[in-house]
Amino acid sequence: MEKLDGKKISEKFLFEVKKEVEYLKNRLNKSPVLATVLVGDNPASKVYVSRKIKTCQKVGIGSMDIKLPSSIREGDLLNEIDRLNKNDDVNGILVQLPLPPHIDVEKVISFISPIKDVDGFHPVNLGNLLRGNDSLYPCTPFGIIKLLKEYDIQVEGKNCVIIGRSVIVGKPLALLLLKENGTVTICHSKSKNLKEISKSADILIAAIGKPGFVTPDYVKKGAVVIDVGINSISDKNYAFRIKGEVGLKSIEKKGYLLVGDVEYKTVSNIASYITPVPGGVGPLTISILMENTLKAFKLQRGIKND
Ligand SMILES: NC(=O)c1ccc[n+]([C@@H]2O[C@H](COP(=O)([O-])OP(=O)(O)OC[C@H]3O[C@@H](n4cnc5c(N)ncnc54)[C@H](OP(=O)(O)O)[C@@H]3O)[C@@H](O)[C@H]2O)c1
Repeated sequence: MEKLDGKKISEKFLFEVKKEVEYLKNRLNKSPVLATVLVGDNPASKVYVSRKIKTCQKVGIGSMDIKLPSSIREGDLLNEIDRLNKNDDVNGILVQLPLPPHIDVEKVISFISPIKDVDGFHPVNLGNLLRGNDSLYPCTPFGIIKLLKEYDIQVEGKNCVIIGRSVIVGKPLALLLLKENGTVTICHSKSKNLKEISKSADILIAAIGKPGFVTPDYVKKGAVVIDVGINSISDKNYAFRIKGEVGLKSIEKKGYLLVGDVEYKTVSNIASYITPVPGGVGPLTISILMENTLKAFKLQRGIKND
């Protein structure tokens, strides 16, 4: 089994973004700028936003950190986005999800200018993806495609099974795998014979949000296994079972342990390649966000993307 090292590959992508940002800055005296919009004080969202801002700094992308109270009216949030849409100094807009329940997420996402939609969730960008056109692709699925390419893992003609059909991961990933000529099956909570379908996969992707859901009986020998799940657990017995002493220590120190949807230790005995959690898909999501911000900057200035 070979570990698919998302952290290492993500560093490589970030280095490439940094080089291009420097080049453009020398040429145009301008750098891309990402505006992050955080509504409320959800602790996980705060961590995600601060990681994104730190990564911007690392690669020379400017950031605009907008924090709004959870009580904000939907109309006021839309006004804020309107300002960012019209601000020529802002190239990418990212509204951190989830939003408070009184706000219509679909309305907010559709309100972001598609050319600044660096998350790739706008209906125009998803529509372009559906049509097979170039677009700002959703970060996590596109990161997975690029990871497979980095390791020379062919998708063409392979049986690709995705467990999870969210609009953030499962559905766009299915379209991207199709674009690579994979034979794609999407499963979800109502799917029957999930184990049998999963076991037919040459490439199995888990995007469920359930710790250790995928066990060896879901996996064909030699399959490539991509674990998208990020789950925070505090059960010491489970932590010990899947990560030994390291798992226990993490819970004692931080009060939680991050694990994926795949039971890493047991599944890695069967898989040919597997992504760890953390250090697999997660870092790639952020590096693609940086790539998308750079791409948006270039699109807005009519600079050709390679
Ligand atoms: N690494 C990253 O950067 C990254 C990015 C995004 C998400 N994530 C993580 O990935 C996981 C999934 O995220 P998401 O946003 O896609 O979640 P989501 O919107 O909750 O979707 C979960 C999907 O899993 C399916 N599912 C749930 N229980 C199932 C079961 N028992 N059998 C089969 N399918 C089942 C659901 O089916 P139904 O549609 O039928 O309900 C749904 O389609 C989470 O752990 C999240 O934190 C990681």
